[in-house]
Amino acid sequence: MDQLELIRALPKAELHVHIEGTFEPELMFEIAQRNQIAIPYQSVEEVKQAYNFHNLQSFLDIYYAGANVLIHEQDFYDLAWAYFEKCAEDNVVHTEMFFDPQTHTDRGIAFETVINGLQRACDDAKAKLGITSHLIMCFLRHLSEEAAFETLEQALPFKDQIIGVGLDSSEMGHPPAKFERVFAKAREQGFLIVAHAGEEGPAEYVWEALDLLKVNRIDHGVRSEEDPKLMQRLIAEKMPLTVCPLSNLKLCVVNDMAEHNIRRLLQQGVHVTVNSDDPSYFGGYMNDNFIAIAQALDLSNEELKQLAINSFEASFISAEEKQKWKLQIENLH
Ligand code: ADE
Ligand code: ZN
Repeated sequence: MDQLELIRALPKAELHVHIEGTFEPELMFEIAQRNQIAIPYQSVEEVKQAYNFHNLQSFLDIYYAGANVLIHEQDFYDLAWAYFEKCAEDNVVHTEMFFDPQTHTDRGIAFETVINGLQRACDDAKAKLGITSHLIMCFLRHLSEEAAFETLEQALPFKDQIIGVGLDSSEMGHPPAKFERVFAKAREQGFLIVAHAGEEGPAEYVWEALDLLKVNRIDHGVRSEEDPKLMQRLIAEKMPLTVCPLSNLKLCVVNDMAEHNIRRLLQQGVHVTVNSDDPSYFGGYMNDNFIAIAQALDLSNEELKQLAINSFEASFISAEEKQKWKLQIENLH
């Protein structure tokens, strides 16, 4: 099997995708029109021209503005359904999607509206596409600890529909330590824990995510390589990193894909996985990310298979499901 065929044939789990980051300009225009909300662009082309980021914040400003057109339950359904169709094209058979409740509740949209739309899309994806999924809600770290506590409170009635809690938005100046207490409460309530750390922020933030938030996975974490002691810890604990290559390139975390460290991390024994982060904004979904690193870093077919196996092992599915997908991957030749 040639490499492109292998990438397409591999069953994959996506563990780091922001549902608001899958919002394609075409759908944004459609929903904006439906909801009679003005957006500052005349055409899809103009939107795409605005996607010219130089760091995380320059992206986040545009990403939050795009989310403003989402009002009704059906909007959240349409958003998630469009993403599931991309999963089907890329053979992503399981996904653990982030959503940012505060981006919506701060605009007066009920938590319930958001989760009901997303959940209905998840149910349809299982029934119609055979794709399984979990929802992870993220706190916006540029907002206060108090606001995160309020969001956690709002989530409690929907606890059965939310597998975990994460931390995203502007990393620099908002260390995991700021949210230590709210994550302790989330853990008490039975949520699994993830956090963005070591994307733009230093290795120190990864230590904090491990020691203070007690994460089950690190989102990004590519700057961990700067700290040999941290690398030893990640390897010893088999701590997954959900790496997002096209995102890192678009946000100038790396200047060239040939300089990306995902292959070095894999070779050193770090449990890395491949993910799309905000695919509508960063130029590609799951397979585009696989293709980009396979080409730029000259990955072997065995390495590609290992990355796909890692995605299931790092996921929140059962041990039996993990074993089932691992066997399927090993049997691809
Ligand atoms: N929100 C959406 N995408 C993000 C990213 N890559 N980092 C931090 N927050 C985000
Ligand atoms: Zn992210």
